[in-house]
Amino acid sequence: MTNEVGPVTLRKLTSENLRAILELSVTDHQLKSYPRSNAYSIAEAHYPADEDPVWLRAIYAGETPVGFMMTSEAPNQGEYFLWRLMIDQRFQGSGYGRRAVQLLIERIQQSDNPKALITSHLLEDANTGHFYEQLGFEYTGELIGEDEPIMRFGF
Ligand SMILES: CC(C)(COP(=O)(O)OP(=O)(O)OC[C@H]1O[C@@H](n2cnc3c(N)ncnc32)[C@H](O)[C@@H]1OP(=O)(O)O)[C@@H](O)C(=O)NCCC(=O)NCCS
Repeated sequence: MTNEVGPVTLRKLTSENLRAILELSVTDHQLKSYPRSNAYSIAEAHYPADEDPVWLRAIYAGETPVGFMMTSEAPNQGEYFLWRLMIDQRFQGSGYGRRAVQLLIERIQQSDNPKALITSHLLEDANTGHFYEQLGFEYTGELIGEDEPIMRFGF
């Protein structure tokens, strides 16, 4: 998608853009359902809970860093987990989040054996569920814990 500031791209984190990514934040209200800062996510990425490789990307609109995305990937099983996704509060509602997920889907489509991209959100955060449904994700009917429905995009 091309917009006023240029196309959305997913770029590696580097020493040059790290500070800008650490400074991105969601709204105070969104912190209730999305409490992890990008600093927290980047630290977690270095000490993952399992062996699956973690993939981090800065989301750019033109030359402006606007968000952050993190996946955990099991390419041998064709399974990809969208673990973190955020667009800074100043840049939300401009289509950047949707385009970032579409770019992720396109990237996975090019892998050898894509099967599923999986994500989840808190039950109370129906807005995020709607966002993912618009992108083609469906509820699996399963929950993580008691309050986190799982959503799946099948390839
Ligand atoms: C969810 C999030 C990534 C969406 O990014 P965004 O750039 O603001 O969303 P987009 O502008 O691409 O919106 C795409 C569509 O989703 C809808 N949408 C996005 N966020 C929404 C929200 N919070 N409530 C209602 N609808 C929303 C938009 O209205 C739009 O639909 P439309 O084309 O019918 O108008 C962003 O709002 C965010 O960072 N939220 C806080 C963190 C979070 O909850 N992350 C997801 C949990 S994994």
